[in-house]
Amino acid sequence: MNDIIIKTENLTKTYSSGKALTHALRGIDLEMPAGRFFCITGPSGHGKSTLVHMIGGLDRPTEGRVFIGGDDITALSNSALAGLRAKRIGFVFQFFNLLQNLTAAENLEAAMMFAGVKEKRQKEKAKELLAMLGLSDKINAKPSELSGGQQQRVAIARALANDPEILLMDEPTGNLDSESEAEVLDALFKFHGKGKTVIIVTHNNEIAKKAEKIYRIKDGRIVE
Ligand SMILES: Nc1ncnc2c1ncn2[C@@H]1O[C@H](COP(=O)(O)OP(=O)(O)O)[C@@H](O)[C@H]1O
Ligand SMILES: [Mg+2]
Repeated sequence: MNDIIIKTENLTKTYSSGKALTHALRGIDLEMPAGRFFCITGPSGHGKSTLVHMIGGLDRPTEGRVFIGGDDITALSNSALAGLRAKRIGFVFQFFNLLQNLTAAENLEAAMMFAGVKEKRQKEKAKELLAMLGLSDKINAKPSELSGGQQQRVAIARALANDPEILLMDEPTGNLDSESEAEVLDALFKFHGKGKTVIIVTHNNEIAKKAEKIYRIKDGRIVE
């Protein structure tokens, strides 16, 4: 599979607050073939999160374009973009972002409901994914009853619930101890083993070593 799953053209993001401008991305051109494991590294504050947010359609660029599987997502309406995010892209963030008053299974079911999956299928798939991530005994646990590593595995399961083509992760192990980190990585490689595209922002050398390609971002540009 050598199809280009993600392409950016002159991707530029400038934040303005009052008179001050922050040039978070200064014209990024990327072509990512499908099915690979990509790493994004670079110093803090240099545009890594901004880049993954733009690729995932969570925010819009100031200039330039993003293509997912050949479709220009910068041309989509907000609701079309929300639909694309729900169905084609899975996100995992540093701070888990689980809904605290829902159980592990319900967190996954909510994501599937949003993508229009039938209720019966939601329940089956939630069980199946949580089992795959070693959380069969935590299906009915609320996030507050889970360790950091377990919560992050629920977040990964949720990101996979709608069978996305792309998994975007922004420092997913940044807040975990090393044991939890190993659990999360294990889950990640299982997913990648299914031929999906994974993009992970990380400072972790163990993860970076496994990447097929590493992009280093400095001052809003790709430096290598
Ligand atoms: N919503 C925002 N509003 C204003 N400035 C922002 C916003 N998000 C990020 N920035 C700024 O853009 C730059 C890049 O941020 P970010 O992409 O979060 O970097 P990284 O993920 O590499 O740490 C930083 O200077 C940051 O302060
Ligand atoms: Mg960041």
